[in-house]
Amino acid sequence: LKYSVQFHAEAIIPLVIGGRLMGIINVGCRKDGLGFDYRVLEIFDLMSVQFAIAINNANLYEGLARQNIKLRELDDLRRQILANVTHELKTPLNSIIGLSEIILEGADGKLSPEQEEHIKMIYSSGKRLLDTVNTLLDLSKLEANRLALDVKRVSIKKMLDEIETKLPKKDEVSIEIRVKEDAPPVYGDERWISKVFGNLLGNAIKYTPKGVVYVDCDRMGDMIKIGVHDTGIGIDKNTQKAIFAGFRQGSSGVGREHEGTGLGLAISKKIVELHGGRMWLNSEPGKGSHFFFTLPLKPDSIPFAEIPTHLDSNKDSNKGASGSNMYS
Ligand SMILES: Nc1ncnc2c1ncn2[C@@H]1O[C@H](COP(=O)(O)OP(=O)(O)OP(=O)(O)O)[C@@H](O)[C@H]1O
Ligand SMILES: [Mg+2]
Repeated sequence: LKYSVQFHAEAIIPLVIGGRLMGIINVGCRKDGLGFDYRVLEIFDLMSVQFAIAINNANLYEGLARQNIKLRELDDLRRQILANVTHELKTPLNSIIGLSEIILEGADGKLSPEQEEHIKMIYSSGKRLLDTVNTLLDLSKLEANRLALDVKRVSIKKMLDEIETKLPKKDEVSIEIRVKEDAPPVYGDERWISKVFGNLLGNAIKYTPKGVVYVDCDRMGDMIKIGVHDTGIGIDKNTQKAIFAGFRQGSSGVGREHEGTGLGLAISKKIVELHGGRMWLNSEPGKGSHFFFTLPLKPDSIPFAEIPTHLDSNKDSNKGASGSNMYS
């Protein structure tokens, strides 16, 4: 351009930001006798700043977009590794558990008391490790959204009565299911909802040295709000912020008091969200914790789930309701 067009006046405007040259703008004037007076130069000056900022923003945006893609790729890779490793761990673990069970049953002859004790330790450690591996597998499935919910009508009361029989017993902790028989059914995947109850009740008992653990529920529009309460050690405000992120424990490190992967709450929250619900907590150190979550009273409130046609939400959603809003 510079060599093919005869300019009467020409301005070369540098685009500078933070001392870095981002480019230049070349402006030419072909009209005889006209140049660039100070007002035009001032406009060029302002323009150059705006152009430099725009180019810089575009560069930053491109960099961020590239970084985002890389992070997403890394996250996919992490999930894939987690899924593969846990899957590979399950096969040998099942052999360890199965074979130690057979030995304990006496298939290889009578065991000395010492041998029996050792094999029992192998068996229970294997079981614990398998639990952890299964938890990690659940998490990887939930994170990858590869979970097809098997949506059914679920009676919370029935489910809680069944879970109660499997909960760890503590002499100084009483468990109360304050949910009435006529509480309306919720819609969701029984196996996963029962996992949420198991995790929350397990925590409530684990973190309550002495006191009461109770469950209640209350209707909230098209959802039911379930509360799992305890009078245990409570959780301070700082810990509360990170508690649902996963791999977090209130007391971490080698000397921590309670066993666990720190994944129970992360998994529970994801399960509830997959059902279109929310999970949150109120807690005060020394006084206890109140965990709440919501579940749908209508099957079509569940996002992304394939709802079996026989589950007609209009017919079913109020079955069992007694007219009052409290079911606990
Ligand atoms: N009811 C509760 N009372 C006091 N602290 C709790 C309670 N529930 C959870 N926490 C705190 O939150 C942390 C995370 O809970 P989460 O259930 O995710 O993991 P965990 O119980 O440590 O291990 P896992 O459930 O994987 O066996 C716990 O380590 C504990 O510090
Ligand atoms: Mg837990």
